[in-house]
Amino acid sequence: MTFVPVATTDELRDDIPLACEVPETGSGREDDGELEVALVRHEGVLYAIENECSHAKVPLSEGDVIDCTIECYLHGSTFDLRTGKALNLPATKPVRVFPVRIEGDDILVDPDNPLNFEEN
Ligand code: FES
Repeated sequence: MTFVPVATTDELRDDIPLACEVPETGSGREDDGELEVALVRHEGVLYAIENECSHAKVPLSEGDVIDCTIECYLHGSTFDLRTGKALNLPATKPVRVFPVRIEGDDILVDPDNPLNFEEN
């Protein structure tokens, strides 16, 4: 587990995605230095979902949060914030979701250990 700070709690508003770059952890992951997540606080729960639609690589943070999903603004696929699963076409592949926690005023994400999700 390598949690790194990506934002502070005062930057986040309910159901408004916040795009955050995830700093390198030195773990040598393939996307080291290029990973971006969309942080979402929905009904008091914090989620960190990869900020790139699996269909055409646009930022999911530009979309709307609806129930426990985030909707891609470009073609309307929705992704489950808990699992990253694509719930409707045209996207068919999931996006990664990451462990996230709060320490003091900081929001931390663990980019090295994406949460399990079902391939779809
Ligand atoms: S780019 Fe996201 S659904 Fe097409």
